[in-house]
Amino acid sequence: MDSDLSPGPHPRSGAARFPMLFPAADAVAQRHTTLLLRQASDELPAVMWCGIAPGPDGVAWEAEQGARAASVESAVPLLPEHWRGWFGRPGLGGHRLAEAAGAPAGGRDWAPSFTLDSALVEGSVLTLRARDDVAGLALVTEVESLPGGALRVRHTLTNTGVGAYVVDHLDVVVPVPSRAREGLDFTGRILHERTPQRREVIDGLWLRENRKGRTGHDAATLNIVGTPGFGFASGEVWGVHVGWSGNHVHRTELLDGVLTIGGGELLLPGEVVLAQDENYRTPWVYVAASDEGLDGLAARFHDYLRSLPAHPGSARQVNFNVWEAVRFRHDTAELIELAELAAEVGAERYVLDDGWFRGRRSDRAGLGDWRVDESVFPDGLGPLVDRVRELGMEFGLWFEPEMISQDSDLYREHPEWILSTGSRTPLLERNQLVLDLSRPEVVQYLLERIDTLLTEYDISYVKWDHNRAVLDGGSGRTGGAPVIHAQTVAYYTLLDELRRRHPRVEWESCSAGGARIDLEVIQRVQRVWTSDMTDALARHSIQRWTGQLLPPEYLGAHVSAPFSMYTGRYMPLDFRAATAFFGHFGIEWDIREASAEDLAVLKGWVNLYKEHRSLLHSGRTVRGDTSDDRAWSHGVVAHDRSAALMAHVQFEDGLNTTPARLTVPGLLPDKEYRIRAVRPAAQARTSRADHIPPLPEEGALLSGAALGHLGITLPPLSPLQVVLLLAEAA
Ligand code: GLA
Repeated sequence: MDSDLSPGPHPRSGAARFPMLFPAADAVAQRHTTLLLRQASDELPAVMWCGIAPGPDGVAWEAEQGARAASVESAVPLLPEHWRGWFGRPGLGGHRLAEAAGAPAGGRDWAPSFTLDSALVEGSVLTLRARDDVAGLALVTEVESLPGGALRVRHTLTNTGVGAYVVDHLDVVVPVPSRAREGLDFTGRILHERTPQRREVIDGLWLRENRKGRTGHDAATLNIVGTPGFGFASGEVWGVHVGWSGNHVHRTELLDGVLTIGGGELLLPGEVVLAQDENYRTPWVYVAASDEGLDGLAARFHDYLRSLPAHPGSARQVNFNVWEAVRFRHDTAELIELAELAAEVGAERYVLDDGWFRGRRSDRAGLGDWRVDESVFPDGLGPLVDRVRELGMEFGLWFEPEMISQDSDLYREHPEWILSTGSRTPLLERNQLVLDLSRPEVVQYLLERIDTLLTEYDISYVKWDHNRAVLDGGSGRTGGAPVIHAQTVAYYTLLDELRRRHPRVEWESCSAGGARIDLEVIQRVQRVWTSDMTDALARHSIQRWTGQLLPPEYLGAHVSAPFSMYTGRYMPLDFRAATAFFGHFGIEWDIREASAEDLAVLKGWVNLYKEHRSLLHSGRTVRGDTSDDRAWSHGVVAHDRSAALMAHVQFEDGLNTTPARLTVPGLLPDKEYRIRAVRPAAQARTSRADHIPPLPEEGALLSGAALGHLGITLPPLSPLQVVLLLAEAA
């Protein structure tokens, strides 16, 4: 073991010496999620500590942490190995199949012991190379520090031995301080994505498995642990996210007083069997720490996403999507009528949803036949696309490429193209089956079809759906062996090729609402459909918690009909619009049924959104901690703290109680800010909820400190009223 306990020189580039802090304090501009790594003899380095290191001034702190952490006996190797006395779920689960006849079929090389060959820092990446000559395995672990202050880690395992090596799982695991005794992750189902669940962290393995072949409505999304009682603005928290759109696991394990979090891909039986010299690479697993509660944790991810080449920017066009207005009832004249009204209220993009292709008169037929239905559009989509473009809007089109209906020409021609575990046809879900993308000819077919349509028409937006979970995800090519890993990779490859061919197109990830939202798909898309739940009241929680991972500019949020299609509940227009306002704003409503007055109000909201979208889509997300679940506040604060836009949302009756206050966190304490209520130009007069009383402090000048601690007094509010407040540096 190293006798010098203070961290080494922390190179920005070059060979790493242990103990070391990664990233080095002087290599990152801000407080960053940091690992303190130690190495004993020639073993794989272990993580002694994971948390927020101070900025460049933290050198003394580093030495202190180095010494302190050296006494901690909970250092966990970057790949926890059973061989070294790790009795929890190992980092690698796998074994070698026998070559020789008569030997047991498998079970060898299951407890590897890696020795480190090299550790190199190059820019923002630390690469560790290790091998186990006895087990015949080589391992490369990459740790990357990300803009915004998170890390991501992945392993690549190579079979260097003789005989096939079966990989059952390969997880990324990091230890966190055992004071993080409260856990938070997410679950859900269709229309109820990202439902939070909190629990005490107790001994044992909390393993959130996803076997649905897509990220999932019930995905854990973020596996968080923190100091008990952590909230949006307070507490120490650590979060891990597996960036993968296929089967995956998130894990929290407390064993012998050592707490770890992590995750990886969930591999089905025999899914990854490495021949000699073949390798398997895990998804990136994102790790972030915050000592400013959940908002601080969210900021790590938001700032990272805003640095991506695929990030959509901060002037998100107002979408108009036809789905809830027309469903499968497509008719060019009606669709044009909707387009004209949409343009009138200020929409900037028109998205033709499900129902435009051959045979798709209901959800029972047509998937796979990606040709315009001539019985509905005798002149093709041209007349509609041209009119939409004439009206100054972009045109978007819906696809569900990975799916096939049994009632389709494609299925009649290629029944063997479906995923299945053998000769059995999998159970239907939404009357459809899943195509086998591990077959190159299937990917080729989809590429040709989508590419042709994107070339033929002036399409600049694609909504890519995946409406069912994958059952029996095996391939006929391999006698039914599972191919979810190959399917997931093929999806990325297909999308990447389409992006290469059509670089101007924006992509929306949809999966029966929000079942494909993760940090690997987000490298490729500019928007997610957050949920099919367009009832604004029910949607609040979904947006709030999807925002734990993604910033608002990604979260598709639409103003839909007064009576929700899913709940039947009535909601005032201002409430619906103020809810969509905090995402990527859109409209999904048969606005031919809206009154002239409602259209004027809607137009007012669209204008308001356009006025404020650059702040909404670049600021730091802040969410209120409240014990009063009748109301909630949230908003964004500009990164330079020159402004903040906050919402107070009244869910239930707030009358006859002490007047509520709305605080604005995160402003400069000594600076003065002018307070202004934000409202659309026109006001609806449909219900009592449409009359939001004036703000008592309208126009006042208040310091950032006063706004952060005391806030402003709100007028008495009725249920389903929202007050929007803008604070601008005077
Ligand atoms: C899914 C999507 C919806 C819509 C329908 C069309 O449910 O989430 O927005 O596109 O499919 O079938």
